Amino acid sequence: MTASPKFLADATSLPVLETERLRIRPVTMADTDDLFAVFSSPRVMRYWSSPAMRERAEAIAYIQSIFDFFAERSLFQWGIAQRSDDRLIGTCTLFALDATHRRCEIGYALHDAHWRRGIMREVLTRLFDFAFDDLRIHRIEADVDPRNDASMGLLESLGFRREGYLRERWFVNDEIQYAVFLGLLAADWRARRSS
Ligand SMILES: CC(C)(COP(=O)(O)OP(=O)(O)OC[C@H]1O[C@@H](n2cnc3c(N)ncnc32)[C@H](O)[C@@H]1OP(=O)(O)O)[C@@H](O)C(=O)NCCC(=O)NCCS
Repeated sequence: MTASPKFLADATSLPVLETERLRIRPVTMADTDDLFAVFSSPRVMRYWSSPAMRERAEAIAYIQSIFDFFAERSLFQWGIAQRSDDRLIGTCTLFALDATHRRCEIGYALHDAHWRRGIMREVLTRLFDFAFDDLRIHRIEADVDPRNDASMGLLESLGFRREGYLRERWFVNDEIQYAVFLGLLAADWRARRSS
């Protein structure tokens, strides 16, 4: 039996992706407090698929899971840091990585002190270049709560198209949540980039 293909099979860590204002870099245990500040915020976590963190220990366990998922190449989660101080202000993730069908899902969260400054658009623009050009992914998917105006607006401003509406897909904090599925194809991204 042949082994399934894996993205970045020979890499020892995620690459650092640079943008004008940001470093999109591997998360380390030194980021625990900054990561906890992002994932313990009820505002940031309002439409997340799990509740806001309550204990710092959850952030440590979460970072360990980021290392473990990288080891099995099933999820790539980067820290987002400003170039000025390299402190983590959010994360972005490629997950459900499928190297056979060359697709994955996208996830992201940013500390609310930095919202609406074009940060996540800058991050995803760099990340999609990496995903489509370097990993040679064909399709990126997103699963968004239809009430999450910021996330829907962000993805549609980057060219994602709505592809499906899934009823009662999540159950978080005693609330049933619906989901909109969106997709972005490599060909659409390249056409957009060259126009
Ligand atoms: C979604 C999120 C990452 C957006 O990050 P951001 O850095 O503030 O977004 P940007 O400033 O890059 O915005 C890019 C575009 O997205 C859209 N957008 C962003 N925030 C918006 C809002 N509150 N309402 C409507 N559209 C919004 C706009 O089109 C915006 O472009 P514009 O500012 O030129 O109008 C941020 O709100 C967040 O972390 N939310 C909580 C976590 C979350 O919901 N993650 C996604 C789960 S699916």
